[in-house]
Amino acid sequence: MEVKFKSVGIVGTGFCVPKKVLTNFDLEKMVDTTDDWIRTRTGIRERRIADSNEATSDLAGKAARKALEDARLNPDEIDLIIVATLSPDMSFPSTACLVQHKLGIKNACAFDLEAACSGFIYGLSVADAFIKSSTYKIALVIGAETFSRIVDWKDRNTCILMGDGAGAVVLREVINGKGILSTYLDADGSGADLMKQPAGGSRLPATEETVKQGLHYFKMQGNEVFKHAVRIMTASTITALKKANLSNEDVDWLIPHQANSRIIQSVAKRLCIPMEKVIVNLDKYGNTTAATIPIALDEAVKQGKIKEEDNVVLVAFGAGLTWGACVLRW
Ligand code: COA
Repeated sequence: MEVKFKSVGIVGTGFCVPKKVLTNFDLEKMVDTTDDWIRTRTGIRERRIADSNEATSDLAGKAARKALEDARLNPDEIDLIIVATLSPDMSFPSTACLVQHKLGIKNACAFDLEAACSGFIYGLSVADAFIKSSTYKIALVIGAETFSRIVDWKDRNTCILMGDGAGAVVLREVINGKGILSTYLDADGSGADLMKQPAGGSRLPATEETVKQGLHYFKMQGNEVFKHAVRIMTASTITALKKANLSNEDVDWLIPHQANSRIIQSVAKRLCIPMEKVIVNLDKYGNTTAATIPIALDEAVKQGKIKEEDNVVLVAFGAGLTWGACVLRW
């Protein structure tokens, strides 16, 4: 007997970024860098930074409300909440539970998912499987970060890259042939040292010494990450397209993780996808980690770029190493 799974799609999107803008010119006053260096090496012009009283759940909650309004749903109709983040309000309880409370959602399963910059695609894939299997009906998947809290503002190699923000989507059953056509997730823990926050966990709990040594800050081997990112995002896109029985020529929109415009251009070139079909907004927000893709998706939908029946590919890589891609028919 053939088992027929439900089709699951995105029925609402929203995003929220903090008001405060930090430009490359502001960074020139903080570290030994220039606007020209940052723009030409990364494509970033400015990023948003959370206020001292603003945490990840605040940005996540605002993005989620917008996604719910867009989907014309009441908070009560949500029965699954996934927050993809590596900068939660605190280790526990989960940011997803805090968001649930903020939105007044009752009777929902809520948890955080940590897959760094790939977290949103991991979250989509998990929610897709839960809804397909009829375990839950309507899911909120949120990518949210206040990465500025773990950035070393004296390290020019990393502080110029990151920003804060949140993006959210609502997922539910849609008509057959639309929605998520395929997902592909992968990881390789042998690359764990390439990007990490060494202290603050069970390996190196917070002590005066770990704070003194700056071990609670984000550390990265930028060059190595760059090479992996180009290879991994290209291969992931090809794999996810194959799983959906599509080719690169069928792609209407590519929404890559927004880490560096040179990475994005190299991936698009290798995939033979023209840059006109690639959504890029990192000039305004920098790398918002798990939030880059849902923010870019919401902007592209609201700007009228993504239209009904368009084939959209989301692709990301991040610390772990983790990576993944998702093909959707809008
Ligand atoms: N301003 C000015 N100079 C800088 C600088 C800055 N902000 N940051 C680094 N430099 C210097 C370096 O010190 C180095 O100087 P040197 O040659 O005298 O040693 C020089 O610029 C080149 O550094 P390099 O690291 O080779 O530059 P790059 O072209 O690789 O760009 C990154 C650096 C970080 C922008 C790039 O490697 C990158 O984007 N990597 C991927 C990062 C990423 O995506 N992370 C998130 C993953 S989810």
